[in-house]
Amino acid sequence: MDSPFDVLGVGPDADDAEVDRAYRRRVIEVHPDQGGSASEFHRVRTAYEQIMAGDVPDPIPDDAATAPGPDSAGVDDSDAGEDEETEQEGSRVEYLNYEVLDDHGWDLGDDDLFEKAADAGLAHEDYGQFLALPRESLLEAAENRGFAWPYACRGGACANCAVAVFEGEMDTPGDHILPSTMLDSDIRLSCMGGPVSDEMKVVYNVKHLPGLDELRLPPYPFDKARMND
Ligand code: FES
Repeated sequence: MDSPFDVLGVGPDADDAEVDRAYRRRVIEVHPDQGGSASEFHRVRTAYEQIMAGDVPDPIPDDAATAPGPDSAGVDDSDAGEDEETEQEGSRVEYLNYEVLDDHGWDLGDDDLFEKAADAGLAHEDYGQFLALPRESLLEAAENRGFAWPYACRGGACANCAVAVFEGEMDTPGDHILPSTMLDSDIRLSCMGGPVSDEMKVVYNVKHLPGLDELRLPPYPFDKARMND
């Protein structure tokens, strides 16, 4: 049983900058692509959010990560009320990696894009489905299910995490860098919002689309390795 400070490896008197540096370091250490696991990743993120919110509870049990892994959409619902429990079904997200489109001669505008992807025998990281839970951003949902989707700032200041919403709806709260032309083309930032429809189809990794390329920031090391940016 570790406190959130133990999880990040900082003292309880660490300032925000120190916590932030520790979080970035730990996230890379425990990321599934670096030999960690989705549950460890979720545990580190939970610790960071609690510290930054000034809401540090009793020590986090080792199993408090609630094991949201590739085969589970579980989240920590220990503080969920009855209303929230009814929301736990979340949204079914069907995803496709933009990088495979060229290989198959497909186009983002193809009406049958996801039908073709479903029949193409693509690798699990390139095509499939997962459940996004209420209160998860789309990026968090992907990561909590064990995927490594591209990102950099996690704060609306770049286009690394951009996705194209093919079907369904996604909210876009807060300030972000995307111009209105991109929003009109159903481009969204996966770190800034989550699905608001029961089902959605989304093409991720569209950061190289014209207009997005120049908004990108340098990716994190594992992102660089994973996505061959
Ligand atoms: S990671 Fe930078 S806007 Fe989402």
